[in-house]
Amino acid sequence: MTDKILLTGGAGYIGAHTYVALAKAGFTPVILDNFSNADHDTPARLAQLTGKACLCHECDLLDQKALDDVFKAHDFAAVVHFAAYKAVGDSVARPQAYFNNNMGGLINLLGAMENHGVTRIVFSSSATVYGDSPVQPIPETAPLSATNPYGLSKLVGEQMLGQMQVAHPEWAISILRYFNPVGLHKSGLLRLSPENTTQPPENLMPRLLEVAHGTRKQLSVFGNDYDTPDGTGMRDYIHVEDLARGHVLALEALINTDQSHTVNLGTGRGYSVLEMIEAFAKACGRPIPYEMVPRRAGDVARCYADVTHAKEVLGFETKYGLAEMCADSWVE
Ligand code: UFG
Repeated sequence: MTDKILLTGGAGYIGAHTYVALAKAGFTPVILDNFSNADHDTPARLAQLTGKACLCHECDLLDQKALDDVFKAHDFAAVVHFAAYKAVGDSVARPQAYFNNNMGGLINLLGAMENHGVTRIVFSSSATVYGDSPVQPIPETAPLSATNPYGLSKLVGEQMLGQMQVAHPEWAISILRYFNPVGLHKSGLLRLSPENTTQPPENLMPRLLEVAHGTRKQLSVFGNDYDTPDGTGMRDYIHVEDLARGHVLALEALINTDQSHTVNLGTGRGYSVLEMIEAFAKACGRPIPYEMVPRRAGDVARCYADVTHAKEVLGFETKYGLAEMCADSWVE
């Protein structure tokens, strides 16, 4: 069987880390990316990191002809579908763009898979599909809901895949629900240049970096009146290297068993914003000034993963703790 794996959005943050993990595991990853939120020199850096030329197609999933040409050029064992817009606040301001890009891209990808007989797909989903879950840690069986257009695009993506499975029982589909990815490959080579970031950083870790670099005066802590030990929001941060390894295990499970699965990728442990500030300040050796501001609309108090199923189905366990996640996020 071919060992080529198509990575849509493979030049992006999680895609590039997964590229390295897949190459290390003996697969041949092939990137398809429109570089809307990626560096053009990422393929060269991936070649440097893996010691092999990087196969990369600059292509937009919405361009059906170009997509078909990529599928004609390679025989893929599976697809890992990362390519999507991902900023919650941005999605509230531009819902149509998110539906068009995230749902439209998936629709075209599924069509290309059908036309070219590719039957395995790993889908980048998100813990956002759990909405404001009263059950913590959250098992995969928890009720699903969407509270913003980005979340809806992920939820509908999962549902589309469910219907593809009904029509094609032979397909093997992996739905990976990411919690909060942070960190960077230890080489530092996979850091996205701020000037190439088209989506403004809304997440905690990039903002902590901005404060440490002095480009942001202080961190605004969104709410200190949540029902958590210190009142600030708690999340399940997972090192991107652990996350990348989760994709390798998911692909191996699809290829070896041809069985579908839905799993959480998290550590199972929640940290508050104040704990993150403290850990990051320690990692970068600089103070992180902050101020308390009102809650951000749409935020939940807690969100962390029940990791039992990921261990059972994939044998997945995380290796990295908070100190390493912060140390590996810090770039001078
Ligand atoms: N936070 C701050 N200040 C900031 C940024 C974030 O206090 O400047 C807080 C948030 O209120 C939250 C925590 O830090 O308590 C983490 O916030 P992020 O924006 O980093 O992450 P979210 O948990 O809100 O969202 C992330 C992804 C979503 C995904 C979701 C799944 O960005 O795409 O996790 O749980 F849907």
